[in-house]
Amino acid sequence: MRGTRVSPPSLECLLMLPGHPETAMKGFVVIEGIDGCGKSSVAKRVAARLGRGVVLTREPTDSWIGRAVSRGDASELSPFADALLFMADRALHTEDIKRHLADGKLVISDRYYHSTVAYQAANLRKEFKGDVFSWLLEANRRISLEPDITVLLTVPPEVGLRRISGRGGYSRFERLSFLREVARNYRRLARVDRSVVEVDADRPLDEVVEDVLRVVRVRLGSGRRC
Ligand code: TMP
Repeated sequence: MRGTRVSPPSLECLLMLPGHPETAMKGFVVIEGIDGCGKSSVAKRVAARLGRGVVLTREPTDSWIGRAVSRGDASELSPFADALLFMADRALHTEDIKRHLADGKLVISDRYYHSTVAYQAANLRKEFKGDVFSWLLEANRRISLEPDITVLLTVPPEVGLRRISGRGGYSRFERLSFLREVARNYRRLARVDRSVVEVDADRPLDEVVEDVLRVVRVRLGSGRRC
């Protein structure tokens, strides 16, 4: 099943004013994409627009495992240890998400298991014997929830790198050749995962936010038509 691309908004959608009251939505939305795609800004803006009842969360988390993941970043951990730490962090995070969903919340997560499949498949490819993408996808699906929607923000890797160039030094994953491979893995995910909706993020932030809101409202049924 292929990921869906977003079609242009209808006239009704364009006329709808931001802040219009809407029925509270429930569900689990993940925002994904390569470094520099703008996902953290989009996730914050979308959460703010959807208002109360929304829980915004992220990976790596700020749990002790999440902090260990970030330490691994600095100490150049082995790729296998690195992948398993990201997954351990996710296993804890998933318990939190389940609690919020049971409370009737709309959970928006800035990264989830697609990040491990896209990034760690690229990082492990040389030393893994076999199809690392399928192995990571299978293992992660077993420890994760299936999102209602996975918004994949797409930008050319050159654009992503340019956007983060002002952040004061690149992390180990922020290299053009590596990000190209990560982007290829995300495209492969979009072909096999029906929760994935691709949104072109090589545009002004406001436009991207409106498209993501429209996807969420349509798929989770806010009582609004877009
Ligand atoms: P961030 O840029 O969203 O803060 O994410 C931190 C980095 O961690 C980013 O380069 C992507 C990487 N990452 C993985 O490699 N695998 C994962 O599972 C997650 C959640 C993040």
